[in-house]
Formats: sequence, C-alpha cells, structure tokens
Amino acid sequence: MWAWRVDDFGGIDAMKWKELDEPSISEDEILVHVKASGINFAETRMRAGTYTGIKRPLTLGLEGAGVVEKIGPNVKNCKIGDKIFFRARGSHATKCVVKDYHAFPLPKNWDFKDGAAVGVGWLTAWHALYVTAKVKKHSKVLIEAIASSVGSAALQIAKNQGCFVIGTASSDAKLSKAKEWGVDEVINYKNENVLQRVMEITSNYGVDVGCMTIGTETSDDLIASMANGGKIVMYGSTGGREVKFDLGIGSRNLQLLSMSIDTADNYVPETLSTFRKYVLDGFNQGSFKPVIDRVIPSSDLPKAHKMVDDRKHFGKIILEFN
Ligand SMILES: NC(=O)c1ccc[n+]([C@@H]2O[C@H](COP(=O)([O-])OP(=O)(O)OC[C@H]3O[C@@H](n4cnc5c(N)ncnc54)[C@H](OP(=O)(O)O)[C@@H]3O)[C@@H](O)[C@H]2O)c1
Repeated sequence: MWAWRVDDFGGIDAMKWKELDEPSISEDEILVHVKASGINFAETRMRAGTYTGIKRPLTLGLEGAGVVEKIGPNVKNCKIGDKIFFRARGSHATKCVVKDYHAFPLPKNWDFKDGAAVGVGWLTAWHALYVTAKVKKHSKVLIEAIASSVGSAALQIAKNQGCFVIGTASSDAKLSKAKEWGVDEVINYKNENVLQRVMEITSNYGVDVGCMTIGTETSDDLIASMANGGKIVMYGSTGGREVKFDLGIGSRNLQLLSMSIDTADNYVPETLSTFRKYVLDGFNQGSFKPVIDRVIPSSDLPKAHKMVDDRKHFGKIILEFN
C-alpha cells in the first residue's frame, strides 16, 4: 500500500508519498480500499507537530470513503465489497484501518468524494450542536467560520433543527456562499463589529448558542454576544488558544462547553447512535448534503495544505485516489 507519511514534523515538504506494509486488522476492524479522503484543518497542525498528543511517524488523513476489503469477525456494520464512508486516522493512503463503529454505508446516489466529505466535519458539528448544546427549535445560533468544514455542516444541522443562524467569515465571498446554503444573516468579522451586528440582528437579545472555533481573535465578541442562559460550544482554536472571560458572565448564566470528539465519553453511545439515526437518514433523504469546495488528485496533498492556509475554501477539499 501507499500512504502520505510524515516522518519528521515540518512544513509542506515534510509530507512524503511512501510505500508501506499493509496493516493487519483486529476483531472489530475493517480494512478499506480508499477511493477518496477529506482534508481537515487539524492535519496541517499534525504535519507541523503542534497538534496535542500527536506522535511521528504518522500517516495523514482523518476521514474517507472506499470499498471494504477485509473485516474482523466482530464487525457488524458492513461486509466485504460494501461501499462505505468512514472516520479514521491514516486515510490519506490506498488502504486504511477503520473501527466498525466508524463505518457508515455510502448513501444512495453518492459517490466516494461525497462520502469523504462527511466523517469529521459532520460528526463534530452534530456532537457540538445536537449532543453538547442540545439546540432547540427557534434558538438563535452563531456559527464562527461558517465556511469551514465543521461550520458548513453545523449550518445545515442548525437549520434542520429549526434555528435562526448567523454565520461569520473573513471574506464576503464565503458569506455569499453561506447564503446560498441557507444562513439567515452573515457577518464579516474582519471588517464589521460582531457584537454590534448581533445585537442589531437580534433586537438586543443576543444568541442562545455560539459555536466557538477561532479562539483568541474573536472570543471577546462571541462571549459578549450571548443571550442570558446562552451556551458556547468550544471546539476549535484556529485563531489562538488563549481565551479570557470575566466571571461576571455568571450574571448572564452563560455556559462554556468545551469538547473533543476524540475523547468525549458520550461520543460513541450518543453521538454515533443519533448520527446513524438522524443524519444518515437526512443524507439518504437529501435533506443534508455534503459541502465540497473541490476535488483534487491525491498527489496534490501539498497543494491542499496550502489551500487550508489560504482560507478561501467553502466546505471540503477532497483528495481522489486512483
Ligand atoms: N473539538 C473537536 O472535536 C474538533 C473536531 C474537528 C475539528 N475541530 C476543529 O474545528 C476547527 C475547524 O476545522 P475544519 O477542518 O472545519 O477547518 P477548515 O475547513 O480548514 O476551516 C478553518 C477555518 O478557520 C478559519 N480560520 C480562522 N483563523 C484561521 C487561521 N489562522 N488559519 C486557518 N484558518 C483560520 C478560516 O475561516 P475564516 O477565514 O472565515 O475565518 C478557515 O476557513 C479547527 O480548529 C479544528 O481543529 C475540532
């Protein structure tokens, strides 16, 4: 098998396409012949060695889609020959080992690139909004970086739950795209005052749920924009990890909810089971759709990392494997 490997952390040149031995699988694992793999912001940090807990050497990639080639005896979610999408580390490779609970049947009429756009962004957005914040109908939700892979999935989930959604981005081009995908109001956080705009839009109410993914650069405004009893779900730090708040937020009964889908106790029993029930159904019915910016050959992974740094994409960049 072949894989995009990082032996020594570093810049874009640290990624090398290498031949490796095929991995073995355990009782509850699946070996997938990968056809497409999605790009995530976190991978750029993994490559650089600044992602918490990451060890080298590593095969890059966190999600993909392909054909089941081998299964362990305890696998229940698929059989050999099935087309699936999945969440698993090491997906930027021709073969990838996937845990049974992270394998999902490819929805009807989807091809592999659609499936590769789902594993991380949608599971993160579902865990954030449905499981952690428990969004309610008519909630006012602010989604930072609405054009990101997580943000564009969160938009569809929040709208599907009947929420009013405000999205932020650093460019008007991304905000126009967000309107095409159904966002109610948009704010360019680089040249508009977020707090002032949220208060105008909500008639001084604020928002019930805030999706915090940028961190230092925008956290003061997000915290100030929250309504009484509001919940901030914190899942990213693209713009810096240090966030300060005044304990006076108690007078507004704010809840700060941090999360990681890698380590949350309720992720497997609650997030994965409700995702299978509601989100997979939404994909099959067409009420939820993967958001793909572009598809590029797997040999262009360095270009994909450069695109993440350039921040012009809306939704997913997908690598296609031959
Ligand atoms: N907690 C979890 O379990 C979990 C799981 C998955 C992902 N995440 C996190 O969620 C965040 C989004 O991930 P993603 O894969 O959806 O990202 P993505 O598609 O690459 O988008 C990231 C967005 O972040 C914004 N951004 C702000 N400052 C940035 C900077 N300095 N460099 C690059 N982008 C910056 C950009 O939007 P604007 O230009 O519009 O600001 C960019 O489009 C990441 O922090 C990721 O680590 C967390």
